[in-house]
Amino acid sequence: MLRLRAKPYEQTNHVQRYDAHQIMKEFSRIFRWRLDGKDSLLDVGTGSGDVLMDILRPSLPRNFRKIVGSDFSAEMIEHCNAVHKSRHVDKVDFKILDIETERLPKEFINEFDHVTSFYCLHWIKNQRQAMGNIYEMLHNEGDCLLVFLEWHEFFDIYEILSNTPKWAPHMKDMKCYTSKLFRSNKAEFRRILKDVGFADCSVVIRDRSYAYEGLDALREFCRAVNPYIDRIPLKLHEEFLDDIIDHIIELNLHDGIRFIIRYRLFVIYARK
Ligand SMILES: C[S@@+](CC[C@H](N)C(=O)[O-])C[C@H]1O[C@@H](n2cnc3c(N)ncnc32)[C@H](O)[C@@H]1O
Repeated sequence: MLRLRAKPYEQTNHVQRYDAHQIMKEFSRIFRWRLDGKDSLLDVGTGSGDVLMDILRPSLPRNFRKIVGSDFSAEMIEHCNAVHKSRHVDKVDFKILDIETERLPKEFINEFDHVTSFYCLHWIKNQRQAMGNIYEMLHNEGDCLLVFLEWHEFFDIYEILSNTPKWAPHMKDMKCYTSKLFRSNKAEFRRILKDVGFADCSVVIRDRSYAYEGLDALREFCRAVNPYIDRIPLKLHEEFLDDIIDHIIELNLHDGIRFIIRYRLFVIYARK
């Protein structure tokens, strides 16, 4: 199970913030906002909560009804409640929710005008269950914007390392993190969205890249979003990161100063 730490994540999520900002600029015109402005929004896999509060919240009408950030990580939700809730006690809340649950708590059902999710849904195994839950949580006229990785340079490197004698013992379940991604495609997602009940959907894949200024920035980002680092003994962490960075250098993804990491994003917008 993916376990990210709130503080290091928040300090290194520049690319996630950049993408959320770009995508919200485009989709804030497309969302089906309520006429009375009393919109409610649930963010799935909200992490450290800063993307929700700094980038998504300003797109909502001023008199929005409520915003709920959700995550299956108790550490992330504790962090969000401590850092973000005090400023908006009455209308903002953070709750634990596993988006793959087969028993959606009643308090979430048919409760939101909009569901958003950024950089989370590539980690989950049962996409159909997650999409079905998102559908169930929306009001009748509700819509959702789901942004997640279709591919990332790191995933290819994880795959190479997982086949080396040094790292294989620590990366046994790597397939559960990445193989689903490689099998995902636009048609499959369209079918899932239709099957769970969405009437109208747009599924696109966007080619992206991000330039990290120097090795340290890239290394800290890699540490913060690495799904394997917690299962590797502490004394081997730096060596593991060194090996990832060596592969990036071998792939020639740098110009001496900047490291250019390529990835592809699913951008899904669907209406109930
Ligand atoms: C990379 S962070 C993204 C955080 C934030 N949305 C952003 O864009 O910066 C992914 C988050 O998804 C959460 N997550 C992973 N699987 C989940 C699941 N099945 N249900 C809910 N949250 C999940 C993780 O705990 C993590 O906080």
